[in-house]
Amino acid sequence: MSNSDPQITRFRLSDQYQQLKNNFHRHLIQQIEERNLDIDQWDETKIERFVTEQMRRYVVDQRLPVNQRESEALARDARDELMGFGPIQSLVDDDSVNDIVVNGPNNVFVEREGRLYSAPVRFFNDTHVVRVIQRILAPIGRRVDESTPMVDARLADGSRVNAIIPPIALDGPCLSIRKFRKQPLTADDLLRSGTLNQAELDYLRDRVDRRTNLLVVGGTGTGKTTFLNLLSTWISEEERVVTIEDAAELRLNHRHVVRLETRPPNLEGQRAVTARDLVRNALRMRPDRIIVGEVRGDEVLDMLQAMNTGHDGSMTTLHANSCRDAVHRLELLAGFAGYTGSETTFLGQVASAIQLMVHVGRLKSGERRVMAITEVLGSRGNELIMRDLFRYDIETRSHIDCRGDL
Ligand SMILES: Nc1ncnc2c1ncn2[C@@H]1O[C@H](COP(=O)(O)OP(=O)(O)OP(=O)(O)O)[C@@H](O)[C@H]1O
Ligand SMILES: [Mg+2]
Repeated sequence: MSNSDPQITRFRLSDQYQQLKNNFHRHLIQQIEERNLDIDQWDETKIERFVTEQMRRYVVDQRLPVNQRESEALARDARDELMGFGPIQSLVDDDSVNDIVVNGPNNVFVEREGRLYSAPVRFFNDTHVVRVIQRILAPIGRRVDESTPMVDARLADGSRVNAIIPPIALDGPCLSIRKFRKQPLTADDLLRSGTLNQAELDYLRDRVDRRTNLLVVGGTGTGKTTFLNLLSTWISEEERVVTIEDAAELRLNHRHVVRLETRPPNLEGQRAVTARDLVRNALRMRPDRIIVGEVRGDEVLDMLQAMNTGHDGSMTTLHANSCRDAVHRLELLAGFAGYTGSETTFLGQVASAIQLMVHVGRLKSGERRVMAITEVLGSRGNELIMRDLFRYDIETRSHIDCRGDL
């Protein structure tokens, strides 16, 4: 990809290029229709050869004022338009990109290593964005239109897609893609990037081994799921694990893993299968451990109960900005789930269910860090007694081992 060549990048962003690309695309479609070509049956190489050959002739016939590299860029983009996701195909193919966000035709951004960058691509107009959205959704049998202007879906490769179009989105169609990493981040990756240090890793690994009940807490996109995945890779092969998720993201290579996924209600609002249903069901499957991707509703009570009744080593994540905050969040969710007991009783239950919390965060620079590893020691009245074992110090940019402090 010649993304890095500033001259080509400028050219690809120009109106002239958009016009050229659009005209050439139309020319291709015309050729395909006139000659009745069944390009859906063609493989990549054949399409590539066809587009290159057409481009060569088109440049000559139309006397296009483009040089070799410009015509190559044009051919590549035309090919992406024909068989891929158009202007964003190159971003989808780029493994260093985590997220792709399109805010209307002229604003495309990518997230790399926690930071958002403007991407050197654009769409022709709103219709073009919608066409690409439809192409992304078609293989999974979904589409956006006026009656369903908002779609949240998971693609076959595990990537998550959200699309929302006018009139709901005021400034043009929007598309957000959270790409599914082909290779999950490993312990080595996280050590190398400084997400955690060796002492923290050794400590956590030992606790997973000793079947500690664990809660990973953090804000949106801070790396909770990634961390939970890492922790679960340390579970022994012999153990039977049931995972419960809204969209299967966890990747365990264990023999004894049963993966369960919730189901949203149908159009009549029926036949939903909730996380609560699945936690209850999981208890009858004689699991050694239960892993819930994220606790965000009624299932909180069942999960705490499961953790309190012999399913040691169970783990989950919770959306909260600190370990203290997590306790409030648990109380809130329990209240919504219809918990009627006293706060003191509830905290007692939390204290015996959860032994360790890991707080993950994202720094201003975009870097992900384990902000704290906190032990739950018990409860006293309306308070949970906790102690930091490790914490990250932003000033000195270092992970601090607090196990010696008392
Ligand atoms: N430690 C890390 N270092 C680098 N990238 C990371 C790290 N942790 C997560 N990421 C990347 O950040 C993105 C978000 O990660 P993840 O899905 O784990 O976050 P999350 O907190 O579970 O998000 P959500 O709130 O949407 O559930 C992913 O693209 C992931 O690959
Ligand atoms: Mg997550």
